[in-house]
Amino acid sequence: DGGDAAKGEQVFKQCMTCHRIGPEAKNAVGPVLTGVVGRPTGTYPGFAYSDLNRHAGEAGLVWTDDNIFEYLVDPSAFLKKFLTEKGKADQATGSTKMVFKLANEQQRKDVIAYLKTFSEK
Ligand code: HEM
Repeated sequence: DGGDAAKGEQVFKQCMTCHRIGPEAKNAVGPVLTGVVGRPTGTYPGFAYSDLNRHAGEAGLVWTDDNIFEYLVDPSAFLKKFLTEKGKADQATGSTKMVFKLANEQQRKDVIAYLKTFSEK
């Protein structure tokens, strides 16, 4: 994977507009990201997910590091592609509540390495 968790901690400052991580984290604009690597999509307790995010989880999407890597480029497009490939094109509508994109490949690798320091997988 080639991600640097220390650099990822710096990248994560952009995510902190909306997300918290760590043992004391609470939902904010976005869901808690503690333990997100390995977690089924749209399942953090107490967070009101968009239909698009929730349906992707119900169709079997799990946040592996590869999936987060692709998701961050364009969250809505990634979830719609997943649902379409699962034969659920009828649910591939609307958009996710995550209005943020991260194109830079190395920054994506680094922030995922940082997320993994708070996850079991
Ligand atoms: C959802 C990661 C930045 C708002 C998510 C999810 C991940 C994620 C993995 C899915 C969580 C789940 O299914 O439980 C990140 C990372 C970021 C970032 C790594 C920085 C690189 C942001 C920013 C915002 C934001 C800046 C706000 C402007 C949200 C919201 C959701 C979400 C509202 C829920 C989406 C929905 O229900 O449709 N994020 N995020 N995120 N994120 Fe982010």
